Amino acid sequence: MENPIVQVGHPVLRERARDVTPEQLGTAEFRALLARMTEAMRQAPGVGLAAPQLGVSLRVFVLEDRAELQAALTPVERAERERVPLPLRVFVNPTLKPVGDERVTFFEGCLSVSGYAALVERWREVEVTGLDEAGAPVSWRARGWPARILQHEADHLDGVIYVDRMHPRSFGTLPQVKARFGGLPIAEVKRALGLEVPGVEAGR
Ligand code: CO
Repeated sequence: MENPIVQVGHPVLRERARDVTPEQLGTAEFRALLARMTEAMRQAPGVGLAAPQLGVSLRVFVLEDRAELQAALTPVERAERERVPLPLRVFVNPTLKPVGDERVTFFEGCLSVSGYAALVERWREVEVTGLDEAGAPVSWRARGWPARILQHEADHLDGVIYVDRMHPRSFGTLPQVKARFGGLPIAEVKRALGLEVPGVEAGR
C-alpha cells in the first residue's frame, strides 16, 4: 500500500486544525476517518497519528503503543523512557496542560518527517482533556512516553512539528541515530552531543 501519510512541506501540517463539531461526531464520515487514521498508524508503524497527517484539518488524533513496537528497545531504554504498552485511544478537540515542572529529553521521530529523528525536550507528565470518539468528555493524566506522544500529536493540531522543538545538532537519519546512540543512556547521548554545556542546552 502506498504511504498515505502527508510529508513535511505540505501546508496542511502547518495550519491550526479546525475543531470537530458536535454534528461531525458520530457521522459515518468521521468514523471512516478514525478507521483510516488507525490503519495508517498501524501500517507505518507508529504510536500516534493526527488527522492533518492524512490531509484532514481537524482536531483529532489517535494513539496506540503495542508491546511489539517496544521490543527493539533494551529494558534500560524502555525504563528510561517510561515506555509502557498503551491501548488504542482517540482524542477529539484535546487540550493539554503540564503536570509538575519536570522536563525530559529523548529522541523522537514523526511519520510526516519520514526516516529521521532528533532529541526533543518534553513535559514528563501532562493532563489531556477532550472528547472520545463517541463525544463523551475524557480526562487523562499521562506520564513518560504516553505523555510524549500526547504532546507530539497535540502539536500537530496547532501546525507544530517536532523539528520546531528539537535540538538541531541531534537531528539525524534513523539508521545513523540508531548506530550511534542505540542502547546508550540518555545522559551519555546528551554528553556526546554537547548538550550538557550551559548555553547549549535549549531552554523551555
Ligand atoms: Co508526527
